[in-house]
Amino acid sequence: MKSILCLILSCSLFSPVKEDKPLYKDASRPVEERVEDLLGRMTQEEKILQLNQYTLGQNTNENNIGEVTAKIPAGIGSLIYFQEDPEMRNEMQKRAMEETRLGIPILFGFDVIHGYRTVYPIPLAQACSWNTDLVQQACSMAAVEANCSGVDWTFSPMIDVARDGRWGRISEGYGEDPYTNAAFCVASVKGYQGDGLRKDNRIAACLKHYVGYGASEAGRDYVYTEISRQTLWDTYLPPYEAGVKAGVATVMSSFNDISGTPATCNSYTLDEVLKKRWNFDGFVVSDWAAVDQLISQGAAANRKEAARISINAGLDMDMVSHCYDQYLDTLINKGDVSEERLNDAVRRVLTLKFRLGLFEHPYTEVVPAEQYLLQPQSKEVAERLAEECIVLLKNEGNLLPLQDKKTLAVMGPLIDAPEELLGNWSAHGRTEEVFPIQDAIRQEFEGKANLAFHTGCPFEGNDRSGFASALETARKADVVILFMGEKRNWSGENCSRSAIELPAIQESFIQEMKKAGKPMVLVLASGRPLGLHRVEPLCDAIIEMWQPGIPGGRPVAGVLSGRVNPSGKLCVTFPRTTGQIPVYYNQRQSSRPTLGLYQDIPSAPLYEFGHGLSYTTYQYGELKLSKQTVKKEETLVAEIAVTNVGNRTGAETVHWFISDPYCRITRPKRELKHFEKLEIPAGETRIFRFEINPMRDLSFVDGEGNRFLETGEYGVIVNGQKACLTIE
Ligand code: BGC
Repeated sequence: MKSILCLILSCSLFSPVKEDKPLYKDASRPVEERVEDLLGRMTQEEKILQLNQYTLGQNTNENNIGEVTAKIPAGIGSLIYFQEDPEMRNEMQKRAMEETRLGIPILFGFDVIHGYRTVYPIPLAQACSWNTDLVQQACSMAAVEANCSGVDWTFSPMIDVARDGRWGRISEGYGEDPYTNAAFCVASVKGYQGDGLRKDNRIAACLKHYVGYGASEAGRDYVYTEISRQTLWDTYLPPYEAGVKAGVATVMSSFNDISGTPATCNSYTLDEVLKKRWNFDGFVVSDWAAVDQLISQGAAANRKEAARISINAGLDMDMVSHCYDQYLDTLINKGDVSEERLNDAVRRVLTLKFRLGLFEHPYTEVVPAEQYLLQPQSKEVAERLAEECIVLLKNEGNLLPLQDKKTLAVMGPLIDAPEELLGNWSAHGRTEEVFPIQDAIRQEFEGKANLAFHTGCPFEGNDRSGFASALETARKADVVILFMGEKRNWSGENCSRSAIELPAIQESFIQEMKKAGKPMVLVLASGRPLGLHRVEPLCDAIIEMWQPGIPGGRPVAGVLSGRVNPSGKLCVTFPRTTGQIPVYYNQRQSSRPTLGLYQDIPSAPLYEFGHGLSYTTYQYGELKLSKQTVKKEETLVAEIAVTNVGNRTGAETVHWFISDPYCRITRPKRELKHFEKLEIPAGETRIFRFEINPMRDLSFVDGEGNRFLETGEYGVIVNGQKACLTIE
């Protein structure tokens, strides 16, 4: 009897059991269980494919769709998806779901940097709004457009602290300050990802480029960066730590060599800091072909070695260089890469796919594009954000707003160049959807002023043929408005410039127009801070409108007319000249503060971080602290009353800085720790508060990221006022 029972049992144990539904396909089970179940079923080859990202290239020929997708292995981890509708995605996904043994969906990624089809202002501009809520809204709307078009994952936000305007990628981040980058990073991660990745067409975000890419020597792209551990922890890591705490799904390693170890194969930053210390449970993707480029960087002798050192350092997914799919198998078989590391990387990729709900909903529903692209609410957010980004840099004699001027001469290369207002990385944005500057000015001043338009000057080159007639136009006007600046492809990736001044032809045009003797407004659109030392003295008013995206000329037309009261403030310093670089507000102190200055120019920058004027006037009250002396674990409140003493409503941003004058590791002169933007109606007062948590706000890190809070004296600084407090 016993033996018969054993026989029955062993038969049922060893005969193949027909599984109705494997555990990993059961959506009711926890993600961790599903991942482990799936991982346990995968072959080494299947696992390796999950660690590769492929690209289809920019293929808009629909006749080739079948051919192109057919060349790509169906079992890959991810695909960069350039198409604007979901059809090709669904076709590729069908292969992944139906032609592979386990039916693992592909993750479709795309660079949704400042919008998808609704293009918002460039990130550098966004930070000048100091309105994190609006940026969060913009990102969530961009996520919906992208997701409905077949995108699951964006390579955004870029949170590389950047202090060198020559570096073209300064346009893609939130400026020179770690805290600002951290604040906008959190806003954009929340916007893209929402509360849970499965709901409301949210997409996975990606913090990039990890780390220190903004320190590229002399502003050149892709080059070496010299970053001490102290600076890494002080300046470059904090925005990433904030993004990881906010629950970001992925991180992209950067192209740069960090003091001798490229970021792509840097086990300190990838493994020790990101994964072990911060417990990051998402995955790390390389930048474009960066694994292969370890050879050019001199870190690997060949592609196999490049794959080995990258994966062993903690890089999980290879973006398009195909070193992983080519060599990981051999490397694992030889024991050069452990199975454990392979499983860890695959586990991370699968986890995101489950979290996104891709196993349940692998396909993108095809609905008419009018239902999700360019919706009125996203255009409205774009317009408001573009208005709030604008920084009024100078306004001599309150020339602006232009309320009683009869004839306006509107000139410069930008008035005929709507495409340049989109900015770099404009995804599927279209020039015809940008509101042209001339139309905006016409609409704004209709019936209020006579308008004369004249391009007058090219962006670059030597053609001065328009100068003479432009001067004639200027002479007949009451005010001259010059729209000058940069083309969209002067900033962004691989767009370094050796000088940040306007090209000579533009400077010379401004000088020429000055001869008309009329009040002059300079409106700038650029993807970087500009060196304005030669032209600033010639202009009565200067507006930085950045690259606003599809709202185009409307927001700035509103500022010129006074419909919009400017409220933007700089998130990046404007040096006087290129030679002042690097110059940023949070530099450390000099041993001889009154010496060591430039002999040929003033040493202070032209416009500091935080600078930005308004059409109303704010009066700051006395800065008050709830206590002057606190213990390390106590908190205190700093507050200041700000009254709008002008005659129109405005929005004021208060920047709260701290200083630590004497410290074991010297600290910057001041460091931003909090900001708040509030609307203040004319004649009213608002109280701005900063709740200071000493461990969070007054502490510092050493070169290994260990945090310390010293006893002693600290300063709280607001708008030039300083209050002292002591930590006991
Ligand atoms: C850029 C990244 C971008 C990636 C994918 C790279 O060249 O550096 O920022 O996300 O390409 O397009």
